[in-house]
Amino acid sequence: MLIRRPADYRPSEITPAEVYADRRRFIAAALGLAASSVLPAARAATPTGTPLTAPRNPKFSTAETPNSWDDVTGYNNYYEFGTDKSDPAANAGHLRVSPWTVTVAGEAELRGTFALEDLIRPHPLEERVYRLRCVEAWSMVIPWVGLPLGDLVRRLKPTSRAKYVAFTTLRDPTQMPGQRSSVLDWPYVEALRIDEATHPLALLATGVYGRSLPNQNGAPLRLVVPWKYGFKSGKAIVRIEFMEKMPATTWNRSGPEEYGFYANVNPAVDHPRWSQKTERRIGAGLFAARQPTLPFNGYGEQVASLYAGMDLRRYF
Ligand code: MTE
Repeated sequence: MLIRRPADYRPSEITPAEVYADRRRFIAAALGLAASSVLPAARAATPTGTPLTAPRNPKFSTAETPNSWDDVTGYNNYYEFGTDKSDPAANAGHLRVSPWTVTVAGEAELRGTFALEDLIRPHPLEERVYRLRCVEAWSMVIPWVGLPLGDLVRRLKPTSRAKYVAFTTLRDPTQMPGQRSSVLDWPYVEALRIDEATHPLALLATGVYGRSLPNQNGAPLRLVVPWKYGFKSGKAIVRIEFMEKMPATTWNRSGPEEYGFYANVNPAVDHPRWSQKTERRIGAGLFAARQPTLPFNGYGEQVASLYAGMDLRRYF
């Protein structure tokens, strides 16, 4: 992500950028108060969006307390709408997310362009509370609503040649102002190996907090791969393509030394410019201790076997 080296910082910038951007917290911190006691919340404290029927799946849910609605919908990475954490909430509201189509292409028997509802209708929705670990060394706990990606992949019937599946985000600079700049190569593309995509933990999210996704969180359809850094979880997906060869992916192309294709959360492999050993839990308070980052973001028991025999320093 676009984090400058320490030498680039001016002394006036030592407040963490995200805290500075979140003025409520910044003022509260300066006064030693809880954020809510300083100014009214800029966004509704209760979820908006269409309610979804989605029972919680305890097998795939952490018992950790989810982050607040305010954190989940106000502190986002979505460069199509700007590079500051508060930009997506401010700028994504006008994105038209209905009607929405998804094109299925490449090495699969069921190809074509589908209305989103038709693509996901056969699959019951469920709620899963997952940890999200961003490559920038912060984390959150988020109650997603969605469908297991593997169920959809199997329905699309990948051919025996399909080894990877790529997810492409909408490209529409008229609606996505960030795409008028070349901060990344657009459209945003991320991809998984087929065995990763069919792992039971991989989720296609359509909602959060029991309601349809807010635009800033990737409406109407986004990926959630909880054992990988958050950048693998593309938002506003319009294309799913099955491929024989490993596809080029956005962050890997933008910085191959910094963002590997696999992007498995790994405290033993630092980002070249910062440590990945610990993380800051958003919402824990300015003075809360950083917590240790767990291999595969704590999902190692379920997913480590996918990478058996691989050198995870090389394939980071
Ligand atoms: N998807 C798109 N299309 N564009 C983006 O910039 N950012 C990624 C990922 N998906 C991004 C994206 C990154 S870096 C992270 S950490 C997660 O979204 C953040 O998801 P959240 O904002 O819902 O927490």
